[in-house]
Amino acid sequence: MNNDAPVIPALTPPRRILLGPGPSPVDDRVLRSMAAPLLGHLDPLFIRTMDEIQTMLRYVFETNNRLTIPVSGTGSAGMEGTVANLLEPGEEVVLCINGYFGERMFDMVSRLGAKPIRVECEWGGPVDIEKTREAWRNSNAQVLFAVQAETSTGVLQDIAPLSEIVKERDGYLIVDAVTSLGAHSVGVDRNHIDACYSGTQKALSCPPGLSPVTFSDRAIAKVKARQTKVSSWYLDTSLLTAYWDSPAGTPRTYHHTAPITMNYALHEGLRIVAEEGLEARAKRHERNHSALVAGVEAMGLGMHVAPEYRLWTLNAVSVPDGVDDAKVRARLLNEFDIEVGGGLGALKGKILRVGLMGSGSTENNVLLLLAALEKSLKAEGFMPKDSGVSAAADFYAH
Ligand SMILES: Cc1ncc(COP(=O)(O)O)c(C=O)c1O
Repeated sequence: MNNDAPVIPALTPPRRILLGPGPSPVDDRVLRSMAAPLLGHLDPLFIRTMDEIQTMLRYVFETNNRLTIPVSGTGSAGMEGTVANLLEPGEEVVLCINGYFGERMFDMVSRLGAKPIRVECEWGGPVDIEKTREAWRNSNAQVLFAVQAETSTGVLQDIAPLSEIVKERDGYLIVDAVTSLGAHSVGVDRNHIDACYSGTQKALSCPPGLSPVTFSDRAIAKVKARQTKVSSWYLDTSLLTAYWDSPAGTPRTYHHTAPITMNYALHEGLRIVAEEGLEARAKRHERNHSALVAGVEAMGLGMHVAPEYRLWTLNAVSVPDGVDDAKVRARLLNEFDIEVGGGLGALKGKILRVGLMGSGSTENNVLLLLAALEKSLKAEGFMPKDSGVSAAADFYAH
């Protein structure tokens, strides 16, 4: 074996414009916060930082839930954590599946030894409420799962009808808010959600690495009443609580070494959200989404999702017949430094996934993307009907 020390050049990543399904562009304030000196994970100043993060997370989740923390790990860690805590082996659970992330939850639940009951729904449409009600009534499940923002299709799910179904027999609702938190209102308390998780790299505009989660007191009572131990030591909420919370001032105890720098980033990212305010932030996301749609439609392209179910954060633009989406995406990246996503699973090759999330949801980005898209589509032989940039500019002018 050659044992010479490798000589590798330093990383010099370009400043891409991240308009894909995530990660989204990170505000410079967040990047700067990550250069701050490290504190120890039990340093009183870090504990104060943790408390402030919890306060700000309650604000974005719109909840008073005491157990509201960032799990160390990406969105999938929070996802696995909700079911690992709330489900026991052999327990039935109703899963609404209308995209890739519903399928991922099916896989996770199966691995836990729980019994998933699938409610199959169309990819690109919302959850079928009648089918869900029927599955719930015909099962012994206490837990129902749905995705609020299906990043694979661009569909926004209304949560209220799902919580109505769950209430029929005092069940528990788990909601995936990875691509909605910080843009669309999640309203954990208003919507009677029992467990909810998200990720830092979407509308919160931080790097990937933490998964904010929140559990209602009812959900915690269900976890406490388990017959079996939570199979994941790392994600066990009772162990995590001893580190993140100190009822009656008891000292915090070490669980794992928290990723200090990522928590600095989330702290700053949440401060930015709070400064803007949830309502203003939602309006900004809606406005830039609408401008993009105006531009896309002017060019003669279609949106994959019907208007009433469209996410503002993830825009699924249908790829015109005869156009190779991979070539369009490659040109956007190589010529314009713009990243957009392709379709997943059944939608591979059929849609472009354009993310307008957090600090990436701006008028500049919409206009730039439309201009770059026009050029890239023309290079693939698609002649836009009209100018997308002009249509979006007109939208902004009114
Ligand atoms: C809706 C949804 N759920 C879960 C995840 C998993 O998150 P992560 O990739 O951060 O593990 C994602 C990631 O894109 C997502 O969009």
